[in-house]
Amino acid sequence: MVVKKDGLITDIHSLIPGGAHTYSRGDDTFPANAPKSLSRGKGAYVWDTTGRRFIDWGMALRSVSLGHAHPKVDRAVISALRSGVNMSRPVPEEAILARLIASVVPSAEMVKFGKNGSDATAAAVRLARSATGRDLILRSDEPDFLGIHDWFIGSTVMDRGVPTAVKQLTKTFKYGDLGDLENQLKAHPNQVAAVVLEPLGKFSTSPEFLRGLIALAHEHGALVIFDETVSGFRVHIAGAQGLFDVRPDLSTFGKAIANGYALSALVGRRDVMELGGIRHSEDRTFLMSSTYGSERVGLAAGLATISELRSGTIFRQNERVMRRIVEAMAGAFDYHGIGARLKVGGLPISPNISILGPDGEVDFRAKTRFMWLMIENGVLLSQHLFSVAGAHRNRVVAKTSVAIDQSIRGLAESIKRDSVLEDIQDLPVQPVFRRKN
Ligand SMILES: Cc1ncc(COP(=O)(O)O)c(C=O)c1O
Repeated sequence: MVVKKDGLITDIHSLIPGGAHTYSRGDDTFPANAPKSLSRGKGAYVWDTTGRRFIDWGMALRSVSLGHAHPKVDRAVISALRSGVNMSRPVPEEAILARLIASVVPSAEMVKFGKNGSDATAAAVRLARSATGRDLILRSDEPDFLGIHDWFIGSTVMDRGVPTAVKQLTKTFKYGDLGDLENQLKAHPNQVAAVVLEPLGKFSTSPEFLRGLIALAHEHGALVIFDETVSGFRVHIAGAQGLFDVRPDLSTFGKAIANGYALSALVGRRDVMELGGIRHSEDRTFLMSSTYGSERVGLAAGLATISELRSGTIFRQNERVMRRIVEAMAGAFDYHGIGARLKVGGLPISPNISILGPDGEVDFRAKTRFMWLMIENGVLLSQHLFSVAGAHRNRVVAKTSVAIDQSIRGLAESIKRDSVLEDIQDLPVQPVFRRKN
């Protein structure tokens, strides 16, 4: 028996490898007391199949940027699906949305849509190889994730199944270290097609680094690809590149672009993007072409979401909210005597929050205990702990701050009793990229 009459899933692992369709939704990334499945969401709240309500800070792997079931987005979607969702020729929304994105993202001279960030970034990699006639990719050592395709997976510890020949084509450089990047470029002269990175580092970011990186890459004949799947439409309407006024050759967007609906975009320089077009006489380059590329629901959601993000004050509001969350965390860690266990980095609007062990490394046991206690206090966090959306308004933030204080008190007690592992009643949450289960 897998699904009971009330919809509760009892043994999803017997049907679905990993028990979820995304590793970071799986049992090994949540504490044992987390809801097994979620059946509904509205605004900043989600409900599990037994009717329990939680304040949600996971926001569907950071894709829900406005809030669950946002009325304006959903109205646009309903109208789109009543018109038929897929056609044999382009639908008008393709050009309208491409024009909108080109008008808000300065580096977007041309736009190509897909349904997920992985495909967009893999397409950018192929395009860079096509444009430069080179094979090597240099990617940052600080990615949360750059997609499901071999070019990236082959460069992780979870590289089983990726051919050795493919693995050898992706090298890494240290984020924030231009000297290391230069050494890598010099070590592989005339071989690097692209330098690929998430523009925001986990703990440090600077426009000077990004400008220096672009200059260095260009000096060595390589293109620069910004993967803005996470930072795009999140830290600024034009992503990190807009915030810092820098111009990559190609960039990719996903997640926040369509409030949780499936949509991604590869954007960039006209001369490079045109290689995927039909108006040149060179050899053809196969650029992101799929049955669902012009599927209308995602496009309609993207149009409504970007319009909403552009018209409002959401980025300022989100920054204020995240400052309050970080203050609540820092205050509680200090008050309960474990201040040295908290590490916060990144931008105020998109902070990276870690709980450390006595050795200064991320402490997954303490993180699990904290997530566990937040669940007991009615708040659902995910792998990245807090992901802000427009629906995280005052009341929600105030309730979350109370939950933070109570949970950190509990965490401090577990640490003092030396019972963190015992108190989480199962294995600690684990990072997706690890060699063994
Ligand atoms: C930086 C980055 N790139 C690419 C991806 C892949 O996006 P998707 O899951 O939409 O394929 C992710 C997903 O988390 C990501 O964080």
